[in-house]
Formats: sequence, structure tokens, C-alpha cells
Amino acid sequence: MSETPRDRPRRLRTTPAMRRLVAETRLHPAELILPMFVREGLTAPSPIGSMPGVSHHSVDSLRRAVAEAAEAGIGGVMLFGIPTSKDAVGSGATDENGILNVATRAVVEEVGDAIVVQTDLCLDEFTDHGHCGVLDARGAVDNDATLLRYRDMAIAQASAGSQMLGLSGMMDGQVAAVREELDDHGFFDTAVLGYAAKYASAFYGPFREAVQSSLQGDRRSYQLDPGNRREGTRELLLDIEQGADVVMVKPAMSYLDVLSDAAALSPVPVWAYQVSGEYAMIEAAAANGWIDRRRAIEESVVGIRRAGADAVLTYWAVELAGWLR
Ligand code: PBG
Repeated sequence: MSETPRDRPRRLRTTPAMRRLVAETRLHPAELILPMFVREGLTAPSPIGSMPGVSHHSVDSLRRAVAEAAEAGIGGVMLFGIPTSKDAVGSGATDENGILNVATRAVVEEVGDAIVVQTDLCLDEFTDHGHCGVLDARGAVDNDATLLRYRDMAIAQASAGSQMLGLSGMMDGQVAAVREELDDHGFFDTAVLGYAAKYASAFYGPFREAVQSSLQGDRRSYQLDPGNRREGTRELLLDIEQGADVVMVKPAMSYLDVLSDAAALSPVPVWAYQVSGEYAMIEAAAANGWIDRRRAIEESVVGIRRAGADAVLTYWAVELAGWLR
């Protein structure tokens, strides 16, 4: 006995050439963005234990690494700074001699506009309490006082040459505040990336080590509850209304439904951030020989693109770009 089905989807899977021809999702280096860390006081790169393969850079090594990223053809870099000293208001974030602003100037001087240089606009790396904003008298994160700090930070970063500001702090009204401040200072071409749907995630664990976070407690009073899909949409719409040039969903792999909603509703590009924990999990499993590293990396990024991301922030951006060439 045998069946002869009429519909045979397997026809389109017969050879590598056929599969390539019918592939629905293709990766390209231009839609990859590399997050990078620069640490004040370093003279050489220093590996991050929880993120094997990723290092803290000195200003000089960052410069070179960004030039290499440009040569690899990736779309952009997102810079994070780690200062030697922190205080309650995150002074280092708005100081033109603060590490992130110094590094941004150095990088832009090196690569010009061969690659889009973006900077993280958030206070958590710069505050001694580790929160993304300043605190009120009771120790709660003060939304509106934080917006004033973000305005100053935006001008410091735009003046340093950042072309796109990554607003990752999840304060209400942050996109509108930063857009207004940039325009008031004539920075009409500095773009705003709104981390619209950013969830309070355990997958940021390795990043917190990477930025030597001093956080006590958690960020649940400003980042989204992992179970909330509708609220993710609300945040996306608010950021778009406030003038975000690009919106982001973060983390990526556990939030593919939110990403798919965002792709369906957004008139601006939607990006996704494959965060440190997603990176560390695959690296750890691969190091143990439990999964095929390259295939797992490619599949993870293809899945994020398939769900609707126009571009992906991933710590594998340069390595992946090399495989794609
Ligand atoms: C906050 C920020 C975080 C990440 C990027 N920006 C983490 C947090 O909210 O603690 C996480 C990135 C990652 O895990 O790769 N400024």
C-alpha cells in the first residue's frame, strides 16, 4: 500500500539550490548591529567572564574594533560606557569628558559615517545605585526628574557625534523629551531609537556583570512585566507617537510575539535586541558540545528576523557577517 499525495511541499526542499531559491528570510550584514563596551581606565581589552568572546574595550581598542565592524559591512554599533566612578545622578553620562562621550568622539573621528554609530542613552551605568534614572526622597525612580537628565545626556551624545540615541531607560515620555531637546539645539538629524517594549528580564544577567552594575533590587517599576503583550503594543505606539525613528523590542527570543505585533503595526523600522543572556546560553551550550554553535547562532537570528525584526542587535554581528559573505 502506498499513498500518492498531490501536494508535495518537499519538492521545494530537494536541493540546496532549490532551498536557497525559496528561502523566505535571508540574513544580510547590513541589518546587524553590534553592542560594544568601553571601560574607562583600560589600556587593553579585558574579557567579560559571563560573555565569552566579548570584551571591555579601551578607547583605542574600541576605535579599531569599530573600524573592523565597518569593514565587515555590518549596519551599526551601539556603544555602552563603564565609568570608573559613579554617583547618584550619573554625572559621568552628561560630562563631555565622560567615558562614553570621549569614546564616541574617538570612534566617529575614526570611521566617520562608514557605519552608524549609536550610543546607549540611560543612566544605569553611571549611577551608584544602578537604576536607569535618578531617585526621589523615598528612593523610588523619579520619572520626570530623570527626563531632565536624559535631555542633557542627549545633547552630550549628539555633540560627541552619535548618530542615533538608544533610549533604553523606560521612563514615560523619554522619546518626546529627547526629541524636543535635540531639535531645540539644532540636532535635527540625530535619530532616536526608542526601546519601546523592554521587559524586566532575567536574560540581562550577563550584561549587568559586563557593565559592573551596582543595582540592588530590580527594574520592575519601569520595565515591562514579561507576561504583558498588550502593554508592549501600548509602549510601541507611544514611542512612535512621540517621534521615535526606530522602535525596539527587547529581549528578542522570549518576545517574538511582541515583535510580530510590532512589525504589523509600526510605520517605522522595528529592531530587536538579542540580549546578553541569549548570547550566553548559546555560547555555554556550544562550549559543552550540546549544540552546534554556528547553526544555533544562525537559527536564533533568522528566527528573530522571521518574527518581524528589520534589524537585530547581536553580540555575534561581526562573526555572523563573516559567515554571510
Ligand atoms: C540598560 C540596559 C540593559 C541592557 C541594555 N541596556 C539592561 C538592563 O536593563 O539592566 C541589556 C543588554 C543585554 O543584556 O545584552 N541601560
